[in-house]
Amino acid sequence: MKVTVVGAGNVGATCADVLAYREIANEIVLVDIKEGFAEGKALDIWQKSPINLYDSRTVGVTNDYSRTAGSDVVVITSGLPRKPGMSRDDLISTNAGIVKSVTENVVKHSPDAIIIVVSNPLDVMTYAAHITSKLPRARVMGMAGILDTARYRAFLAEELNVSPKDIQAVLMGGHGDTMVPLPRYTTVGGIPVTELIAEDKLNAIIERTKNGGGELVKLMGTSAWYAPGSAAAQMVEAIVKDQRRVFPVCVKLEGEYGIDGVYLGVPVILGKNGIEKVLELQLNEEEKQLLEVSRGHVKDVMEVLDKINATA
Ligand code: LMR
Repeated sequence: MKVTVVGAGNVGATCADVLAYREIANEIVLVDIKEGFAEGKALDIWQKSPINLYDSRTVGVTNDYSRTAGSDVVVITSGLPRKPGMSRDDLISTNAGIVKSVTENVVKHSPDAIIIVVSNPLDVMTYAAHITSKLPRARVMGMAGILDTARYRAFLAEELNVSPKDIQAVLMGGHGDTMVPLPRYTTVGGIPVTELIAEDKLNAIIERTKNGGGELVKLMGTSAWYAPGSAAAQMVEAIVKDQRRVFPVCVKLEGEYGIDGVYLGVPVILGKNGIEKVLELQLNEEEKQLLEVSRGHVKDVMEVLDKINATA
């Protein structure tokens, strides 16, 4: 299996590293526009192989998409990260053009690839990649739900002093302040989380999860990379190994949840064809209202992208 990761910054390099050391793909191409940057990161990952014992070949190229030809999966991490005080949406004018041109290059050389978008604002950059690539919706998706649920699960594990492995959760909506964590669908070793934690503590964890990316931007002056890069690699693994994992993934909704034409995080089955199926949960009234707020917000930012495209 051949996997390309576009963008050799922190998130892209972490993703390539996980793909290599976990032998998720046997050929990994890392691409960047900065001369020598991807080559250096890929060489470093390759030189780690005798230490960590893996044989996935990782190569780096400077903007040479011919070397990505025939990729089965392409992860797009290109674009600027946010700085303290910025929202993800503030990145739209810069990252929209980058994601568009990267996607054009990707589909030119790998027309059969499945595309996973990581660039922010995530839901709208997934929209940008989808309309540029003109691929079926099953093959263009965004990574955010695994990251957001991972944060939620990690905070819960800390609070309950249990292994994060035993916390199962699903979260819906956009990758931003309007994301919709679903305590009703959160379990700890099969036990509903609401039986183990006081309501105020759970609400505080939900709020912290919504601001999880921002908390890290504030601490580090730039956005996170270990969890985002690993989350993207986990999606690649589900696809290349046809695992049919159930993950929250950003995808264009086509009538599910009563929503049409908006890109939102929803639980899906992820396998060799990309999105094998969108799973529809029976949301209660409160959850439906929260999802509607999230839909409205993402739709507004999609319209900003439409205006950018109309004037380009
Ligand atoms: C994240 O959630 O870590 C990413 O979306 C990056 C960011 O700016 O928060």
